[in-house]
Amino acid sequence: MSSTIMSSYARSIGDHLRKPGGGIYGWMVKRFFKKQSRPLEKATVMHCKIQPNESVLELGFGSGFGIQYAAQLVKNGSGKVYGIDFSPVMMTEAMELLKEEISSNKVQLTLGDVSDLPYRDDSIDKVFHCNCYYFWDDRQKVLNNIHRILRPGGLMITVLNRTFLQKMIGKGFLTEDQIDHERYINELGNHFCDVDISDFNFRNSEKKYQVIRAFKSKISI
Ligand SMILES: C[S@@+](CC[C@H](N)C(=O)[O-])C[C@H]1O[C@@H](n2cnc3c(N)ncnc32)[C@H](O)[C@@H]1O
Repeated sequence: MSSTIMSSYARSIGDHLRKPGGGIYGWMVKRFFKKQSRPLEKATVMHCKIQPNESVLELGFGSGFGIQYAAQLVKNGSGKVYGIDFSPVMMTEAMELLKEEISSNKVQLTLGDVSDLPYRDDSIDKVFHCNCYYFWDDRQKVLNNIHRILRPGGLMITVLNRTFLQKMIGKGFLTEDQIDHERYINELGNHFCDVDISDFNFRNSEKKYQVIRAFKSKISI
């Protein structure tokens, strides 16, 4: 294949990883999420340590697996799981997966951009996202929004898989510049406190993923 065709293919896959759409590339990306996302989404939810009465929000829920895991943890309490994603294709997919949880009012999905979160100030206990932050155009705006809606002392969990991201860069789907964890962690430090990053192993595996924790201060400044 010529290098022009290859780079146009890589760009299209990259675009659909950011915002899955229709057509063959959208279908490929959707299928990829379906096969690959569950373990990382499950791990992300586990690191949130969600309690049954908590309000929880996932940013960029994709297929909806993280929302589904989180909904299981609040089903016997007064808690609720919210999700926001700007891809109509992923919204349709997640609504299908989460039919029951939506009809029992345990889950509420919104089609929208994470830079304009439609939730009240200080109303969410935990926010989580995985494989996402490097797609946000205006990260300062998103982080301001997350900080605004988190209750004092609330937690945000960011999960990523460095090895996987390096592979995506190698294939030309993402760029080195997009995946700058150091810069992201510094940006978090401007809004949140007790920011840290740690490596964890997938269950029964040598493979690792990374978890970044960031807390909203208990005292308003
Ligand atoms: C790489 S996918 C990850 C999906 C899921 N978290 C997973 O790990 O399978 C990124 C998701 O974030 C969504 N997304 C990216 N930027 C967004 C934004 N600015 N606002 C809302 N959703 C966004 C995309 O539509 C997509 O569903």
